[in-house]
Amino acid sequence: MKTFYIETFGCQMNAHDSEKVVGTLLREGYEQVIDEADAGLILYNTCSIRDKAEQKVFHRLNEYKRMQGEGKKFAVLGCVAQQEGEKIFEKAPYVSMVAGSASYRNLPDMLARLEAGETRITGLDDRQTDETFDTEFTARTNPHRGYITIIEGCDKFCSYCVVPYTRGKERSRTSASVLAEAQRIAQSGFTEIQLLGQNVNSYVDPSSKRSFAELLAAVGEVNGIKRVRFTTSHPRQFTKDIVDAIDAMPALCDHIHLPVQSGSTSVLKAMQREYTREWYLERIAWTKAAKRDISLTSDIIVGFPGETDKDFEETMTLLADVKYDAIFGFKYSPRPNTPAIHMVDSIPEQVKIERLAILNARQRELQREHYGRHLGQTMEVMVEGHNNSRGQVTGRSTQNKTVNFTCDTLPPVGSYIDVRITQIFPSSLVGEAISAASAPSPALLAQQALNARVPATA
Ligand code: 5AD
Ligand code: SF4
Repeated sequence: MKTFYIETFGCQMNAHDSEKVVGTLLREGYEQVIDEADAGLILYNTCSIRDKAEQKVFHRLNEYKRMQGEGKKFAVLGCVAQQEGEKIFEKAPYVSMVAGSASYRNLPDMLARLEAGETRITGLDDRQTDETFDTEFTARTNPHRGYITIIEGCDKFCSYCVVPYTRGKERSRTSASVLAEAQRIAQSGFTEIQLLGQNVNSYVDPSSKRSFAELLAAVGEVNGIKRVRFTTSHPRQFTKDIVDAIDAMPALCDHIHLPVQSGSTSVLKAMQREYTREWYLERIAWTKAAKRDISLTSDIIVGFPGETDKDFEETMTLLADVKYDAIFGFKYSPRPNTPAIHMVDSIPEQVKIERLAILNARQRELQREHYGRHLGQTMEVMVEGHNNSRGQVTGRSTQNKTVNFTCDTLPPVGSYIDVRITQIFPSSLVGEAISAASAPSPALLAQQALNARVPATA
């Protein structure tokens, strides 16, 4: 019996890539195990976005080394694999396969070579391929959400970011193939879909030239789908028809993640973001003018080379102007191959730490204020899990807010229930169920049971 164990780090793209890799391995006759000791093949799907991620990978590989001699094979996948390439074989000679995400469509062939005893298999792509990894064999390990990659790679080249180097050039899938996948997901009983891409706004159907907003609307019309989410948007290519589509179509969720990165136009210029503070705020104004209450979230980097106190202050005022429902704040970290690596990392670590703390504290304060609007509201929540110790149920609103609530009987994961909000926390809402839960379809329950034995990758 061929067995494998997979460990996944990084963004939702990576988590979903692992679902596709697992599906491919199952298709090739492998069985997934939950204990690495039982695995013939150990795969490690890596992330290299920040914080010397490659060092952590080598540290983990060293731990793997202890398992050498047991006849195990090791494969490194994902962004660190693409970034470090064959250097991984030098530093960790017991690794037999190194493959970046742009090569996964060749996995069956790479696996055959691995089984034939090859020990230096590479799947590396330096922004060459035009192909995407479309597969019907996806292990849908998330119990309530079906992911679909609509565009792979990135052509934006923000000066701090490794992604254009690790995930290859931008390539969109045809909308026919995306819609076929959405229908398969709906038939499996899922009611929620998340469309994924490093920059979904640059999506364009290679054959019909359908735009992202048009694709979004078409996915929203798939029978049985109640919630459609998407991530990540880039302000440069974010168009008003996306807001119009959300306004027009109830199945599209009231949430847009629109990373700003900085509130200072001069920092944005150094980051090569290709927009100004005013350009960004104009897009925010479109979403605020919508009929629906569209929730906004963002990513912010503090301590980018040259960021002055005044620049940072502009990020702080932007927070108050936009009124985000959540932000993900990061300290700038220099990344290999990126243009910013040649700039002096001028902001001392201590200042980065302080700015991040000030940013997060201010956001917490603002969130406490504008979450207040939800007190007393009733909202539809999709159940995502149970906290048995406290008898609480956890789920999400269409705005992607976490809602914890009590309920007489535990509603199943994937069901919908109306919850009245009774308490506001800085990053979550608390309430009580006021309706019966909907029943998830037998297909979804069967799918969940199938995956219950392996950990979800997303
Ligand atoms: N340093 C700090 N944060 C980064 N991000 C991307 N690259 C870096 C980096 N070199 C952040 C950005 C991005 C999020 C996914 O990670 O905010 O939107
Ligand atoms: Fe990490 Fe970026 Fe790769 Fe996602 S695309 S795994 S965030 S480096």
